[in-house]
Amino acid sequence: MSANVEKTPHAAVILIIDDTPANVAMLADYLDDLGLRVVVAQDGEEGLGRAEFVKPDLILLDVMMPGMDGFETCRRLKMSEAVRDIPVIFMTALTDTQSVVKGFKVGGVDYVTKPVQIEEVWARVKTHLDLRAMHQQLTQQNQVLRQEMEIRLETEEALRKLSAEQQLLIAKLQAAHDQLLQSEKMASLGQLAAGIAHEINNPIGFVNSNMGSLQNYFETLFAALDACEQVVAESPNSTQIVARFAQVKEESEIDFLKQDIVDLMKESRDGLKRVKDIVQSLKDFSHVGEANWQDADLHHGLDSTLNIVNNEIKYKADVVKQYGQLPLVRCLASQLNQVFMNLLINAAHAIKERGTITVRTGVVNDWVWVEICDTGAGIPEDIMNRIFEPFFTTKPVGSGTGLGLSLSYGIVRKHGGRIEVRSELNKGSSFTVHLPVNPANPG
Ligand SMILES: Nc1ncnc2c1ncn2[C@@H]1O[C@H](COP(=O)(O)OP(=O)(O)OP(=O)(O)O)[C@@H](O)[C@H]1O
Ligand SMILES: [Mg+2]
Repeated sequence: MSANVEKTPHAAVILIIDDTPANVAMLADYLDDLGLRVVVAQDGEEGLGRAEFVKPDLILLDVMMPGMDGFETCRRLKMSEAVRDIPVIFMTALTDTQSVVKGFKVGGVDYVTKPVQIEEVWARVKTHLDLRAMHQQLTQQNQVLRQEMEIRLETEEALRKLSAEQQLLIAKLQAAHDQLLQSEKMASLGQLAAGIAHEINNPIGFVNSNMGSLQNYFETLFAALDACEQVVAESPNSTQIVARFAQVKEESEIDFLKQDIVDLMKESRDGLKRVKDIVQSLKDFSHVGEANWQDADLHHGLDSTLNIVNNEIKYKADVVKQYGQLPLVRCLASQLNQVFMNLLINAAHAIKERGTITVRTGVVNDWVWVEICDTGAGIPEDIMNRIFEPFFTTKPVGSGTGLGLSLSYGIVRKHGGRIEVRSELNKGSSFTVHLPVNPANPG
């Protein structure tokens, strides 16, 4: 028996509810000897109170008691949150099936028959104490597992967040990389454009000058022809020659040629002028080798930028120019052209179907301003203070890097200037670039 005692959970508490003193005394002595703590109640009512107070590990409950019987006591025990998990073993003389079933029904875990055999009682008590200990251990382990699970879920959530942030960072890096590639591409395109512009410039130059000579030659030729006609008409006996002359003129359609050559020359000169303008715009825009500060005519920069982006905006908007009188501005002209380009393209993108982009300029004291107004979608209030953030874009993935305005902001700041924005939803936006005519510390 002593070996069993060692295995018993240390100082387990047993509540005996029984109205038979002899029975109680025998059980209490025996269990006490085994190192268990015993608490006694003499009826159901008292038993309920003790159970709530002591919270024993097991209850030995007599069935036949005056007042509240064992079954009712058990039913009431099971109704209490605090003690319902404590195993109850009935002690009963009623061993008919109905009574036994009733005992289990009201929540008993086992029963011993009266008069009790002390070894049997101990065997059952021990089994249920062990079961309860195991149950408690399992509950604790479950608790630990649940906590571990929660920690794991939290860790997983944190990892997921981290991974999402990393993805975002990778996407941003990719965008920055794309933007770098783009600006490298722009730079080499700029060089290419400037090279081509230079190459085209020469032939255009001599074609232009040849056109001038051709015009003179034609004028001389027609004047000579008119003079011949005059001479022939004035010579005596020239009727035949005059007729022949008229016939040749008629056959060669000289009058038509005279008029058409004038038209063709004019068209060709216009065409040449357009090619020259494009070449000039390409040169102005790329400004290759002009990383230096210079005194520039901003209208010139605006016009060449408009020429370059014309293709992008002509299907969306009519461009209205309202230029004021501007002094030359000390600036990095090619970089300011980039700013104008970003603002013009943003304006075109903001217009859904067709609208107007108005470019205004003016001067106040030592400052000039360039305003680019659109009749587009406008900027919602809640994103207004984010549009200059690098990578902020409302355009679909892949179509905007969100760097246009942040780069422009940087360039304008470098010039000691500022950009102001006004916008109204569904009416349009206007971006105004203010620049000092002579920045204090250029660069
Ligand atoms: N004129 C405008 N009208 C309405 N919204 C604008 C206008 N200009 C800028 N925005 C808003 O500001 C955001 C940021 O503009 P930004 O030029 O920096 O980047 P993006 O145009 O989206 O991309 P990209 O790098 O190709 O220029 C735009 O996505 C858009 O939501
Ligand atoms: Mg943009």
